[in-house]
Amino acid sequence: MSNQVRIGKTNLYVNPIGLGTNAVGGHNLFQNLDEEAGRELVRTGIANGINFLDTAFIYGPKRSEEIIGEVVKEIGSRSQLVIATKAAHKFVGKDIVIDNSPSFLKQSVEESLQRLQTDYIDLFYIHFPDKDTPKDEAVGVLKQLKDEGKIRAIGVSNFSIEQLREANKDGYVDVYQGEYNLLSRDAEKELFPYAINNGISYIPYFPLASGLLTGKYNKNTNLEEKRGKFFQKETFEATLEKMEHIRDIANGKGAEVAHVVLAWYLTREAIDVIIPGAKRAEQVLNNLKTLEIQLTDAEIQEIDRVFQS
Ligand SMILES: NC(=O)c1ccc[n+]([C@@H]2O[C@H](COP(=O)([O-])OP(=O)(O)OC[C@H]3O[C@@H](n4cnc5c(N)ncnc54)[C@H](OP(=O)(O)O)[C@@H]3O)[C@@H](O)[C@H]2O)c1
Repeated sequence: MSNQVRIGKTNLYVNPIGLGTNAVGGHNLFQNLDEEAGRELVRTGIANGINFLDTAFIYGPKRSEEIIGEVVKEIGSRSQLVIATKAAHKFVGKDIVIDNSPSFLKQSVEESLQRLQTDYIDLFYIHFPDKDTPKDEAVGVLKQLKDEGKIRAIGVSNFSIEQLREANKDGYVDVYQGEYNLLSRDAEKELFPYAINNGISYIPYFPLASGLLTGKYNKNTNLEEKRGKFFQKETFEATLEKMEHIRDIANGKGAEVAHVVLAWYLTREAIDVIIPGAKRAEQVLNNLKTLEIQLTDAEIQEIDRVFQS
């Protein structure tokens, strides 16, 4: 098993390569998703040393948490795993509203515990900020749940820097999860320094820019078949050019582009662990190879320079 790293100031120690599971049962996010492929990729990840799983109520909705609960039960490895989930989305009829009220967060934790078939959640995040709830009050109820042993660490996600400051007034925030990748580096300006100064671990989502940063696409890719902001023509073409620098570095190491990209994130001071997503077991296995490579200072700086926007 790889060396385990500590997530910020928590008592959670994990393989630095975790697993994002929005494509495990996330039928509302991905078309024609195969649940069995999702189960299999979670099993494969765990069998090969992944022990940090990232899910959320809204992936499915509910289905991702349910599948993870079932697979973990089947394998019987709950105590060796660190499971993170998130909530804030509330169904009001068919509409979804964002709710950070203490009562809704409390209810959400209870419901996630049931779907995950567990009696504690290692890391519970407020998934998105609402407009009304003071953020220190929202985090306050999570602190109570932590004291009761229902959750082990507190996270917030998609908060602005002001919302994060408010949320962390009493120093209770352990983890911040936000978008960060070589194409989206805004977090470096304020969120990273705040996280570093406050012992908060920054967990980046979309680390592979939904697959674009794996280097598997080229100028002949039919962009009409691809969804999402990273596949807009201009971003896509500019990225392909930059990726050639990464490809050279990867070739020099006998590695693949995705491994170099993922390894680069782990060199950021604010980041302890990453949670690349996957649709198939082979991708999970492939991303684990990141741990086999070491980037030199010159390579780290070159990637930094090429991807300065
Ligand atoms: N807090 C939030 O609001 C938030 C938002 C988004 C995501 N997240 C979390 O962050 C995690 C990561 O984000 P993400 O999964 O959306 O994006 P991502 O990690 O940037 O991209 C994952 C996608 O890249 C492709 N891929 C992965 N490994 C590959 C490999 N080795 N070779 C080739 N292709 C590969 C797969 O898609 P294809 O096979 O289709 O190419 C996979 O679904 C999510 O799973 C979720 O847990 C959180």
